[in-house]
Amino acid sequence: MLSYALVAFFSVLLAVLLVPYDWSVKSVTGPVQGPPERLLSRRELTQYNGEEGSKGLYLAILGQVFDVQKGHKHYGPNGSYHFMAGRDVSLAFITGDFTESGLTDDVSSLPPLQMVALYDWLAFYQREYHIVGKLVGRFYDNTGQPTEALLQVEASLAEGQQMKAQSEAEKVRFPACNSEWSTGSGGRVWCSTKSGGVIRDWTGVPRKLFSPGSSGVRCVCVKDPSTAEEDSSLQRYSGCPPHAESCSVGDD
Ligand code: HEM
Repeated sequence: MLSYALVAFFSVLLAVLLVPYDWSVKSVTGPVQGPPERLLSRRELTQYNGEEGSKGLYLAILGQVFDVQKGHKHYGPNGSYHFMAGRDVSLAFITGDFTESGLTDDVSSLPPLQMVALYDWLAFYQREYHIVGKLVGRFYDNTGQPTEALLQVEASLAEGQQMKAQSEAEKVRFPACNSEWSTGSGGRVWCSTKSGGVIRDWTGVPRKLFSPGSSGVRCVCVKDPSTAEEDSSLQRYSGCPPHAESCSVGDD
């Protein structure tokens, strides 16, 4: 009985393995099937400003065009952000300068960290709205290829992302102190297992951190008081013992 069952099992297995299989569908590197990419000129895009007689409601950011009909209350003729409709005003997403001279797609003045913020807006549109195509002009050429301007923007973005990662890592290594100030007793800074938005299993000691490139000094919690002594960017609060978790702050 058992041998019949085994024979039946292996026959089925063999049959499954012998079924012809179309290996071509396994390819993941082949071209992605989808609608052909749509390229719009600036002039064409203006025809999608949501006003009476227009063809629809689109906007572009970093040269990517989105259908924002769903957000008609923001971008339609009575919306607060109607000035974004039918055009690419990438710079204004960061500057908040909504005057005509601020409504431009020239983002070359943005420093790297602001480029990261601009890409956050792009990610927002990719998440919330349907992409229509690309705008031929500053960021894409008439074959849909990225222009030199876009490559520069991407390089700046990469630099900004690296700076952001470094500052996040610094926040974890040196979380900000807790602080309070009152007219009666003056100021106090102290460390606990939750400060500067970082929850941890160590408390640390308060130190003044002088960061190169950033103006001013900030109070941070340092895990090990002895390493704190060796690091020239860290300084003790005057009158505060090296291992104290809390320091009074006078004129520091
Ligand atoms: C750089 C400055 C700003 C930019 C670029 C900006 C941009 C935008 C955009 C594009 C939308 C529509 C998002 C969507 O499609 O759903 C929006 C929505 C909104 N914004 Fe702003 N905004 C700015 C500043 C502000 C400020 C300062 C306020 C308030 C004081 C504000 C209040 C709002 C509100 C209330 C909404 C509507 C949210 C909703 O109903 O879903 N914005 N903003």
